[in-house]
Amino acid sequence: MRVSCIELVQTKDPTMIAAQMCVTFVLLSLTLAEEVKLKYKPARKPVRLFTDEELRRYDGSEEELPIYMAVKGVVFDVSKGKEFYGKDAPYNALVGRDSTRAVAKMSLDPADLTSDITGLTKEELDSLETVFKDTYKKKYPIVGYTASRILSADGSPNQDFKPEDQPHFQIKDEF
Ligand code: HEM
Repeated sequence: MRVSCIELVQTKDPTMIAAQMCVTFVLLSLTLAEEVKLKYKPARKPVRLFTDEELRRYDGSEEELPIYMAVKGVVFDVSKGKEFYGKDAPYNALVGRDSTRAVAKMSLDPADLTSDITGLTKEELDSLETVFKDTYKKKYPIVGYTASRILSADGSPNQDFKPEDQPHFQIKDEF
């Protein structure tokens, strides 16, 4: 005997009711699971954390290593700007460290080769933002972040940390 949908819905047979409930449950679970998947996308890839010491290795002195430099706690691979940053190149002093202050002031004074931005003028801070955005973020791929950007003063993870967007680069996973 054929049971139409209407008959199935209206049936009082306990087996049928149980079957209907099962079907409804499965359909509901599938729909909700899909919604949860859409709402809670998996966490982003972990980012690489550089200590000062680690960053120092990438100062252009070792031919086989890439050249890294941090600005505002963001570590860029500046290897393709070897003519600026490589060994004996004019801006070599800036690499292997966070040179935020030097970039803001356009200075190569050793005292400015630091991430410390205390006392900078508004013009210097604006200039820093421009060079950060229009030179570094545009030109060089991000490979990680310095501890000062990822961690809070007490060493715990900085809850406000957000990786920089750099959609025009396809960074290979280093992990
Ligand atoms: C006499 C002084 C200077 C001259 C004539 C000069 C000249 C130049 C030139 C021609 C470029 C290349 C622009 C390009 O091809 O994209 C450049 C880039 C740059 N300069 Fe200077 N510069 C001087 C001083 C400095 C100083 C003191 C700093 C200190 C931080 C500095 C930092 C930079 C940076 C960060 C770049 C961007 C390099 C890149 O694209 O990765 N410059 N400069």
